[in-house]
Amino acid sequence: MARIPNLIAKSMTNHKLAEFAEKMSISDDQLSQLNEFRDVLIGNRDEFRKKFYQFFFDIPDAKTILEHVAKLDVLHNSWDYWFDSLFRTDIDAAYLEFIWGIGKRHMELNVEQRFTSLGFFLIRQFFREQIDEKIPPDKRGEISETIDKLLDLNLFVMTAAYIETTIHCDIEVIKGVEDKIRNPVTVIGGNIMRLKRDASRPDYEKVLFESLIEQNKKLERIMLDIKKYTQLFEEEPNWTTFPVKELINLVLEKLRKENGLENITIDINTAPGIPFVKGDKKQIENVFYAVLLNAAEAIDARDPYIRISTCQEKSALHNMEIEIFNTGTPPKKEDIDKLFSPFYSTKVMGTGFGLPFARLAVKKNYGKITLAPAPEKGTLVTITLPLPD
Ligand code: HEM
Repeated sequence: MARIPNLIAKSMTNHKLAEFAEKMSISDDQLSQLNEFRDVLIGNRDEFRKKFYQFFFDIPDAKTILEHVAKLDVLHNSWDYWFDSLFRTDIDAAYLEFIWGIGKRHMELNVEQRFTSLGFFLIRQFFREQIDEKIPPDKRGEISETIDKLLDLNLFVMTAAYIETTIHCDIEVIKGVEDKIRNPVTVIGGNIMRLKRDASRPDYEKVLFESLIEQNKKLERIMLDIKKYTQLFEEEPNWTTFPVKELINLVLEKLRKENGLENITIDINTAPGIPFVKGDKKQIENVFYAVLLNAAEAIDARDPYIRISTCQEKSALHNMEIEIFNTGTPPKKEDIDKLFSPFYSTKVMGTGFGLPFARLAVKKNYGKITLAPAPEKGTLVTITLPLPD
């Protein structure tokens, strides 16, 4: 029996997964027998990869992922590596971790599980053809069985990883709700008790009422942000093509009207020749709003400066890269992940939804967003968005 070490249960906090893999009982003998036919079965791998790629390229949603999210060579290498790693002599924890990582990566990049399932359908078909053509008849049954078990195991682990990563994100949000609501609710509750106790002191009451109103406003804002976030979660992007510079100017105008950019010098350098991006205009407007508001709030008051620049992404020419730099204390490396988690805020009345909202919207539009300390003492947010077809 191939070993499934306990490590897998620990690292994935999922005993069921380890048990399932154990129950599939892929024996060492079966693995070695399959390994003998490695070269024949893998012979047409490159041809299959091309067909696989083309198949998904013909599906509009999948095409957007393939064109804009992935780097072609990275993707090809990843798929080849996975293909080769099917032929092995042992199923160990590292292998299961590797498959788990694929499900997680797919989830991060919005590669829906339905595409992966469809992919496995194609892979099974490919192996069936190869076995019929190239494996001696007396060995076909066993080789088919081993391949089927291996593909089942792969699909199962990837699906489990995809689901668990999704649930983990939801749980983080729910934990955040509890955490953020606890404070205002405690303040409101405590003040009501005090008012009840001390009803005869009107001046004292005024202070308490103001505090109650303020906390209540905070709760209202949290609820509104949760609503917007969940709406965005469910909403499908309304794809259009629009000029980035105009949208940025619109957002800057809005922020100026709200007095959010007072005294700040703003430079905009857009790359000539690539004025447009593809996406949901309203969602992207909200992204720029959240990022620019964040930049303005974090700015160094002695040197209030924001620089916005665009260029073609060097590693994936189908994307535009938009950089937003602001002066101010750069974020600590260990805080960067937290900044993208809902409810994390360093501001007293902040709900902590700006950057999580931006990240979700960018992901839905097949883009990426990163935040990093800038070399010139400040913060650099980089957003990539698909260029039009
Ligand atoms: C069905 C079987 C599939 C297998 C076995 C598979 C395997 C892999 C592997 C091994 C990686 C690298 C994971 C890592 O970096 O840790 C990966 C990444 C990725 N896969 Fe898949 N994949 C499958 C289906 C698909 C499909 C159908 C799509 C899209 C339509 C897709 C899109 C991607 C993308 C965009 C990445 C990220 C590449 C990057 O990091 O730039 N995959 N996949």
